[in-house]
Amino acid sequence: MAKLGVFDVSVRYGKVPALNDVSLHLNEGERMFISGPNGAGKSSLLRAISGAVATSHGRIEMDGTILTGRPPEAIARQGLSMVPEGREIFGSMTVEENLRVGTGIRRDRSAIESDIAEIYDAFPILGQRRNASAGALSGGQQQMLAIGRALMTNPKLMMVDEPSLGLAPNIVDQVYDTLVALQQERGLTLLIVEQSSARAARVGGRMVLLRGGAIVDQGDAREFAEKDLLKDAYFGGAKTEDA
Ligand SMILES: Nc1ncnc2c1ncn2[C@@H]1O[C@H](COP(=O)(O)OP(=O)(O)O)[C@@H](O)[C@H]1O
Ligand SMILES: [Mg+2]
Repeated sequence: MAKLGVFDVSVRYGKVPALNDVSLHLNEGERMFISGPNGAGKSSLLRAISGAVATSHGRIEMDGTILTGRPPEAIARQGLSMVPEGREIFGSMTVEENLRVGTGIRRDRSAIESDIAEIYDAFPILGQRRNASAGALSGGQQQMLAIGRALMTNPKLMMVDEPSLGLAPNIVDQVYDTLVALQQERGLTLLIVEQSSARAARVGGRMVLLRGGAIVDQGDAREFAEKDLLKDAYFGGAKTEDA
């Protein structure tokens, strides 16, 4: 199970408000995209859910357990895992060392070994390069490694912050295909930050639009992609007329 409830959550950095009374609900096995411009509060929302930043207001629950105010390790143990923006791979460590980084909270050695084997199964390139330094991987391979590392805690809910950042379109397709396959195999619940509505629509799922720290719109990702296409056609047309 991984039912997530975010109720009126606010986040501030000192005096800077980043998120204002945001509420959202994610059902078990569901996929939701968070979209919005830079500075909208997307990463802050994910950090609040994972416990990486404190909330100044509101409540977060997973499967009926309150996560708010608990340390990130406790939240991870509850079954929540995050792939941070920028991936945060340890470039000087090997691929396999990166996978083992998060296993400190687990003592079952044989389960850890079988999880690593499963990740090499899902991402054969990581298995082939297990002893290579992670910094030598391509951007797409590093994103796969970041996802693989997040899977090492056996999450029920996985949050991925801008997986497509800096990747070529065909590599982004591969990353999303892998995420969707993992979701189906493991029954994962997925919360993904993705700025492109077209990309989200291709993958499919619900979408929430953040702006200035608040939710300004939500619906099916396809509706957003259609609206954005119309906007582009309108403004694109206007620009051509002006020229
Ligand atoms: N560590 C931080 N300290 C101070 N302000 C921050 C910090 N991180 C983010 N902010 C501010 O909070 C707001 C939301 O940022 P963020 O959640 O990173 O947005 P997004 O991920 O949508 O780009 C922005 O105004 C940003 O400048
Ligand atoms: Mg961000």
